[in-house]
Amino acid sequence: MTNPGRGGSFYDEPQIVDRYLDHRHSRTSSPNYVMEEPALLSELGTVTGLRVLDLGCGDAAIGQTLLNAGCLSYLGLDGSTAMVKAGSTALQGTAGRVELTDIENFSAPPSSFDLILSRLAFHYVEDIESALAACHACLSPGGRLIFTVVHPVLTSYDAETQGKRTNWIVDDYFLKGPRQRNWFGGTVTWFHRTIEDYVRALTTTGFTLTSLRECAPSEERLNGAAAELARRRRVPLFLLLTGTRP
Ligand SMILES: C[S@@+](CC[C@H](N)C(=O)[O-])C[C@H]1O[C@@H](n2cnc3c(N)ncnc32)[C@H](O)[C@@H]1O
Repeated sequence: MTNPGRGGSFYDEPQIVDRYLDHRHSRTSSPNYVMEEPALLSELGTVTGLRVLDLGCGDAAIGQTLLNAGCLSYLGLDGSTAMVKAGSTALQGTAGRVELTDIENFSAPPSSFDLILSRLAFHYVEDIESALAACHACLSPGGRLIFTVVHPVLTSYDAETQGKRTNWIVDDYFLKGPRQRNWFGGTVTWFHRTIEDYVRALTTTGFTLTSLRECAPSEERLNGAAAELARRRRVPLFLLLTGTRP
């Protein structure tokens, strides 16, 4: 491993990918399923005929969903060998594919994609403006970048200096930069930014901000689980932003 604790290589640590994917696909107990995904799917709208790029695609589960919904192509990029293997297996026999690439190194020719997604990966990237500029450069006019990140009220917290969390603490909110996080039994580096920083990064790279969502829990997906709904209503876990290329 060349860069322990950083981005994609973190998910190649023994057992991390399995633990993450178990959690990710655990439906109602997964905040991704009851909070992030419903917001993302409603934001996506129709995808028919779109060329889709997914940055930090993980096991590319969304790829099959988008292909079934009629997107023209799906390319997932991820910096973890284990994730790319899982994604390639999941998309075998479809028009979708997955490649091993770090978001920091990604570029593509102008107008290569109509929709770029990135779900819960940009908070692993230090230089967000360069990543967004690379997205802007390869989107077709009118194309959208839709991304989710761990909500800034959560990334502000630094587990290394503040110890194990016993309650929801928002601290050092305006101190942007790296934070150590215990994550599925390993330690990983996330980069904290404020909501304003994300919005500014979008607009300075040429996007028009067309949506901002905080991914409130879906009552439909929680299907009457009142205690879980009350728990998920306490704290925002995810932030979703959409930038449109004029
Ligand atoms: C929390 S997982 C989300 C995976 C997937 N998007 C999903 O929603 O299930 C974060 C993913 O981002 C990838 N990742 C993190 N930093 C990266 C980087 N700098 N370049 C490429 N991939 C990265 C990880 O390997 C991992 O698959």
